[in-house]
Amino acid sequence: MSSTAVLGCAWGDEAKAKIVDVLAKDADYVVRFQGGNNAGHTIKLKDKKFVFHLVPSGILYPGKTCLIGSGVVIDPFQLLAEMDGLKAQGISFENRFFIDPRAQIVLPLHCELDGKAEADSKQTNIGTTKRGIGPCYSDAIARYGIRFGDLFDKKYLTERLENIIRYHNYPISDVSIVLEKLEQVTEQLRPFLKQIPYLLNEADDKNILFEGAQGTLLDVTFGTYPFVTSSHTSSGGIAIGTGFGKKVDRIVGILKSYYTRVGKGPFPTELHDEIGNRIRIQGNEFGSTTGRPRRCGWFDAVAAKYTSMINGIDEIAFTLLDVLSGFDTLKICTAYKIGDIITNEFPHSAKDLEQAIPQYIELPGWNDDITGITEYNKLPINAQKYIAKIEEIISKNVTIVSVGPERGQTIFR
Ligand code: GDP
Ligand code: IMO
Ligand code: MG
Repeated sequence: MSSTAVLGCAWGDEAKAKIVDVLAKDADYVVRFQGGNNAGHTIKLKDKKFVFHLVPSGILYPGKTCLIGSGVVIDPFQLLAEMDGLKAQGISFENRFFIDPRAQIVLPLHCELDGKAEADSKQTNIGTTKRGIGPCYSDAIARYGIRFGDLFDKKYLTERLENIIRYHNYPISDVSIVLEKLEQVTEQLRPFLKQIPYLLNEADDKNILFEGAQGTLLDVTFGTYPFVTSSHTSSGGIAIGTGFGKKVDRIVGILKSYYTRVGKGPFPTELHDEIGNRIRIQGNEFGSTTGRPRRCGWFDAVAAKYTSMINGIDEIAFTLLDVLSGFDTLKICTAYKIGDIITNEFPHSAKDLEQAIPQYIELPGWNDDITGITEYNKLPINAQKYIAKIEEIISKNVTIVSVGPERGQTIFR
């Protein structure tokens, strides 16, 4: 058995799906362990573009088994819609797609609550995807949640729905409405029920690939709280989000060559100028789930070192390097000035991070189009120097470089 994890090491959208797609050819199982359809994972294959929200990206490879672990929150209606879209493109789910019974269900009331919280000017506005993620995880922790396995026991499901609906002060008559809605999807989902912990831990002859969603700076504990998502996006989330009881052999941290963020919250290296706009346009930085323009900024090595530590990463996949072609100089943030103090520790408080003034080093850029390069030493020397500087600061090696969205636009070192 071997196990590999692909984890976003920033605020999401680091091109995790592209790297999962590249590594999935050697995997038997591709597993999501947290998050829900707030994720938007894009894979480009020739003239086709696939955007995954809940289905693991490995489904594109025929014969790979894709799993949704206990830590994921599932909107069953959105899941079926996503599956229908993929089936229409010839992708089969039969006997190769399974969901753990412990995964929590996102109910319509969760989406409604998410939307209301975002619209309420008295609450901290996070800029969520409004997919019901926060309210669903809250109910799970409060022990009011409905789990995937509950869908298949009508009597128990009714009791659980009464419980959660009372808890949220919704009219009790809503129970039959929700029940009826859920019953429309239950039979379609029944074939996918499987105890994932047994499947993974007994997979002696299988290669497992864990597909992270979001990024470490959005982790509910280690991210820029409260401007985070509600799940454990870091490597620790793998154990609790799947029941995999072994050490993951290889943790690949995904860092993009500049930083982006969607939604609210501190972002020290954010560029509000023409350079930020240029990165947004060259990198096509618009959200895969909500279409929102992504905030863009310089590479933040303070944050990268922190997320690399939190995840215990073994190596880095460095993505979207091609987007930086054509800049005279590139900046890397190596420390923050907060008040009178210069630090290279990532603050635990979003309030402190909000005050952080990035301290930059500046490196020369390159002009060449690098999208066709397949060997590391063929990259422009300044691109190699840019990567070497980041490796030096983070003390980790870049082993994969992505120079375009296609599978082939990947350099292995
Ligand atoms: P994820 O959520 O981490 O999987 O990332 P997204 O799919 O939300 O965003 C990454 C975007 O960058 C997608 O549109 C990818 O097709 C695209 N992409 C991936 N790798 C590269 C790359 O190396 N260069 C460029 N230009 N685009 C890339
Ligand atoms: P992938 O997997 C980027 C952000 C939202 C918001 C915060 C909380 O594609 O990298 P939520 O709906 O989760 O309660 O929103 O988290 N967010 C993401 N940003 N990529 C994602 O996923 C994200 N999923 C959530 O914009 O700031
Ligand atoms: Mg994304």
